[in-house]
Amino acid sequence: KKRIFSGMQPSGVITLGNYLGALKNWTKLQDEYDCLYCIVDMHAITVRQDPVKLRKQAKDLLVQYLAVGLDPEKNIIYYQSHVPQHAELAWILNCYTYMGELNRMTQFKDKCAKHADNINAGLFTYPSLMAADILLYQTDLVPVGEDQRQHLELTRDIAQRFNGIYGDVFKVPDAYIGKVGARVMALQEPTKKMSKSDENQNNIITLMDDPKVIMNKMKRAMTDSDTEVRFAEEKPGISNLLSIYCAVTGKTIAEAEKEFAGAGYGTFKTAVGEAVVAELEPVQKRVKELEANKDYLDAIIKSGAEKASRLADRTLTKVQKKVGFPPRI
Ligand code: TYM
Repeated sequence: KKRIFSGMQPSGVITLGNYLGALKNWTKLQDEYDCLYCIVDMHAITVRQDPVKLRKQAKDLLVQYLAVGLDPEKNIIYYQSHVPQHAELAWILNCYTYMGELNRMTQFKDKCAKHADNINAGLFTYPSLMAADILLYQTDLVPVGEDQRQHLELTRDIAQRFNGIYGDVFKVPDAYIGKVGARVMALQEPTKKMSKSDENQNNIITLMDDPKVIMNKMKRAMTDSDTEVRFAEEKPGISNLLSIYCAVTGKTIAEAEKEFAGAGYGTFKTAVGEAVVAELEPVQKRVKELEANKDYLDAIIKSGAEKASRLADRTLTKVQKKVGFPPRI
């Protein structure tokens, strides 16, 4: 079986963007592939986090992974900080990554603008830790949203560079980016992506939003002065809602356009809202059930870390030998 690795930062609430761009695809892939789904808490501390909150968010994210349908029997689900091999490989990869490459990362530039008071070295080398996450497991495919494409390309470059020097050590991974939902936009500013750190709550829908709240946010979503439900560059608001609708229902854009031909924006928005609610309500119910089951969660956390660590060791040991570290006696 081919291997999949992906991860999400426990840096706040999960948005509909995270869900449609990544999580939903993960659940579809779990039968066909060997998957590792990580909660990347080490990445999260590249911006300042409150420790109590971070711990809670990491736990919440684990619960949400499970609630959307990731099966802990089929997938390895774990916290990045529980598997020290990530940090060890990241250090080595840092020595094979150029400042110039890291400087070109658009996510780094965005974060510099947002967190000007804390441009730390971890923020800068974030992509080499991400490369380590992926390369540790000889990953074939990485299901992510569009915004991670550049990091994936850098990961491939690092892997190829290392292999070029030492022989075939790493599998060179491919990105898996879905056709719809890979770039969910902010509801009221549909030319920028939906982001969990957005200050305007009406721009984002979270996995845990109440149905009433979801319907309200949908109603307020920006549209345009036209009346036609049609996917087009000059109609970013309607196009975004169409993408959301299709990503949730599995319909194609053409089918959705036909369905809402002549319907008017009000009817359309209600339908999109209802589709999202129908998708999220059962997830929210499972979150409540899982939260009450501490022993079950603890067992997953423990066995996930053990399994991941065992796999990670194989690659790390090989890498350490290749670069010339003395063998352990
Ligand atoms: P993060 O935590 O920002 O986002 C998690 C996943 O959600 C996707 N995503 C979106 N998809 C569609 N529309 C949006 N508006 C949207 N916003 C976010 C992201 O593309 C991502 O797939 N660097 C990663 C975490 C990471 C990782 C890894 C991922 C660390 N190591 C190794 C894959 C493999 C990140 O910050 O994702």
